[in-house]
Amino acid sequence: MAEQVQEFSGAIDKGLEGIVACSTAISSIVDVTLTYCGYTIEDLAANSSFEEVAFLLWNKKLPNKGELDKFKTEIGKRLSLNKEYVQFLKQLPNKGVHPMEWLRSAVSALALWDKDANDISPEANQRKALDLLSKMGPIVCAFERLRNGKDIISPKPDKSIAWNFLYMLSGKEPDAYQAKVFDTALILHADHELNCSAFSVRVTTSSLSDMHSAITSGIGTLKGPLHGGANEQVMKMLLRIGNMTECEKFIKNALENKEKVMGFGHRVYKNGDPRAKILRGMSEELGKRRGEPQWYQMSVKIDDIMQEKKGLLPNVDFYSASVYYCMDIPIDLYTPIFAVSRISGWVAHSLEQYSNNRIYRPRGKYVGGLNLKWAPLEKR
Ligand code: COA
Repeated sequence: MAEQVQEFSGAIDKGLEGIVACSTAISSIVDVTLTYCGYTIEDLAANSSFEEVAFLLWNKKLPNKGELDKFKTEIGKRLSLNKEYVQFLKQLPNKGVHPMEWLRSAVSALALWDKDANDISPEANQRKALDLLSKMGPIVCAFERLRNGKDIISPKPDKSIAWNFLYMLSGKEPDAYQAKVFDTALILHADHELNCSAFSVRVTTSSLSDMHSAITSGIGTLKGPLHGGANEQVMKMLLRIGNMTECEKFIKNALENKEKVMGFGHRVYKNGDPRAKILRGMSEELGKRRGEPQWYQMSVKIDDIMQEKKGLLPNVDFYSASVYYCMDIPIDLYTPIFAVSRISGWVAHSLEQYSNNRIYRPRGKYVGGLNLKWAPLEKR
């Protein structure tokens, strides 16, 4: 029998580097410029709010005042978690569990209380989009409260997603500066073209599955240390290094052992990640205000060493670690916070995919054995 070998004309690249898998009008990366729907990240970080950015990503235009007010009101109405759902959350194991595992299960289960879970009409999708955007932060805060045996705090609907996150986490009202810093961090993480988790959201959506399933795929993908999980690893590394004088030795060892230094490198940015630049300034300022400049200073030192020894620049996860640390946020919540922001981009990708869908179904080049003959168990 002639061997059947599949013929493929396109080059195969492990990790699909450089492959264009869809058209999108959500965000774009050109060299060191990241834009959301045409607006630079620098412009949005300086002037916008996370709610406005979410509206922009979903509607491809900035809202006018009336639209933004309505959008915020709709979010405010949805920040609370219903009692039955909270009862369910209380049953989930939370000891020795990574918050991303818990979040993945909690968001998946949210669909069970949504009467429109399987309705993928544009109207139902808009409503579910708002619900997911609003509830992601309160769900992460619920995890933190429950694992510490504390009551879940009720949100304040007239306040922002960022403000409510800090409030529902600690029970203390954040000051204007803290709320602004956190809001900016949410803006910076909101979307990033066809990143790994946005791609998985689009793949799930493309089967015409429901939005909760798509977002659950996104959370599972973000969890990995090569994607959203890196920020947590960065802070653990800074704590392990401990002080400025140890930085050089630690990084040298890591590189000699061919270990990846978390928070460095990027598939697309080769000349630097613009988000890291903004976060670097935030890390410096927060460190000063808190009287703990060492985390920023060590980060800068590591940044210099990595550039000198490896030619690698920091990505979004590097300076966000010290930013969150200086805001007293538990280290294992850094990646869930990424999800609190990235839900806006995931939803945008899901809505865009629904609106112009074709199922994703690439091919795999088969490189295994051929023409094998089945043999009974005793003859193997
Ligand atoms: N530390 C040390 N070396 C690194 C590195 C890092 N953080 N990132 C990349 N490299 C090296 C690789 O070892 C490889 O070197 P080699 O050619 O000598 O083997 C080269 O740079 C290319 O790296 P590769 O892993 O193939 O790049 P990628 O495009 O597949 O992966 C990342 C991109 C972001 C996943 C990768 O840079 C990485 O793992 N970074 C650390 C995790 C991280 O910060 N993730 C957050 C991304 S926003």
